[in-house]
Amino acid sequence: MTSVLGFTHVWEQRDSPRTLLLLHGTGGDEHDLVPLAAMLDPDANILSPRGQVLENGAPRFFRRLAEGIFDEADLRVRTAGLADFVTAAAAEYGFDPLQVTAAGFSNGANIAAALLLLNPRILRRAVLFRAMVPLTPETPPRLDGTKVFLSAGRADPLVQPENTERLATMLTQYGADVELQWSPLGHTLGKQDVAAAKAWLA
Ligand code: MLT
Repeated sequence: MTSVLGFTHVWEQRDSPRTLLLLHGTGGDEHDLVPLAAMLDPDANILSPRGQVLENGAPRFFRRLAEGIFDEADLRVRTAGLADFVTAAAAEYGFDPLQVTAAGFSNGANIAAALLLLNPRILRRAVLFRAMVPLTPETPPRLDGTKVFLSAGRADPLVQPENTERLATMLTQYGADVELQWSPLGHTLGKQDVAAAKAWLA
């Protein structure tokens, strides 16, 4: 566990050109999604940072004013910081910056969505579990060639289905190739989410 640009993170090098950028949910850390990476793409390198914001001791990737209401100024700064981290980590570890796939859950999925909207060159693909619209970009990003898999929960008490649908529509309008799939579950991940994401990635 080391630090690049102030991000405590896990880096696991594999024999693959692909890198998975793992982005945990509120209260998680850099170790949380490492087992998920083994299920999604066991051959890919793993880059897994810990969110730099603390909410009552719980790590997050950006501040929020209330549940589902984001501090947009902070979100913009944190998204730029995460983009810089991925770029710096690619130089440090020698992975291909053009073959980065984000796998994010909840708060981590939301900052991955913000990366797509504000720094569209950082991610080639993104798997977003339980994501919502993080913000509306001032300049429309060009997401042609970017693939996004959204896995949403029909019974999610935190993310309204319309919100994830709005995110899917936005990303599609900006040129991304988007697949939205529904699980019967709530905000927690199930086997079905992981299996569908794995099949999509393959
Ligand atoms: C967020 O704050 O990103 C969303 O409300 C999801 C969460 O982390 O609870």
